[in-house]
Amino acid sequence: MLRTLLVAAGVALTLGASTTVALAGDVANGEKWANRVCKACHTFDKGGKHMVGPNLWGIYGQPPAQVEGFDRYQAAPLFAENGIETWNEENLAEYVADPEAFRQTYAGGHESAMVVSLPPKFAPDVAAYLKTLQD
Ligand code: HEC
Repeated sequence: MLRTLLVAAGVALTLGASTTVALAGDVANGEKWANRVCKACHTFDKGGKHMVGPNLWGIYGQPPAQVEGFDRYQAAPLFAENGIETWNEENLAEYVADPEAFRQTYAGGHESAMVVSLPPKFAPDVAAYLKTLQD
């Protein structure tokens, strides 16, 4: 009985926390997940080097595939042709939640080296974090 109550309380706490996170675009949580799943291929600091993917400082508000000095774009240049004029919280969240589906919609399914394993419910948090990466 006590165990059931504790488990139920744990579930309620977990649900409560993730609901808040999803609604608020929690920057700290976004940073945590970015460090966990994006850092393998991206740097986030100003002037950071390009790796498999481009440095993401200042990406918010920019047109896709324009990061200076990154010359290995595959699918991203096609995003602009298909309605993604600049990166905002909504389309960034959609992209990082499921890059393959995003490429299907905005790049005709064109392949890319960007694959992520991010729980999709945290995508708005990661987008909110990306928004902070500017002067
Ligand atoms: C396995 C490597 C890899 C991982 C992991 C990865 N990316 Fe990428 N990312 C790339 C590559 C490669 C590109 C260029 C894509 C292209 O041209 O198709 C890219 C492009 C991007 C772009 C578009 C940049 C532009 O210039 O328009 C954004 C935004 C982005 N990634 C964010 C993220 C975020 C946020 C995560 C973590 C949730 C992440 N990426 C995880 C490899 C990766």
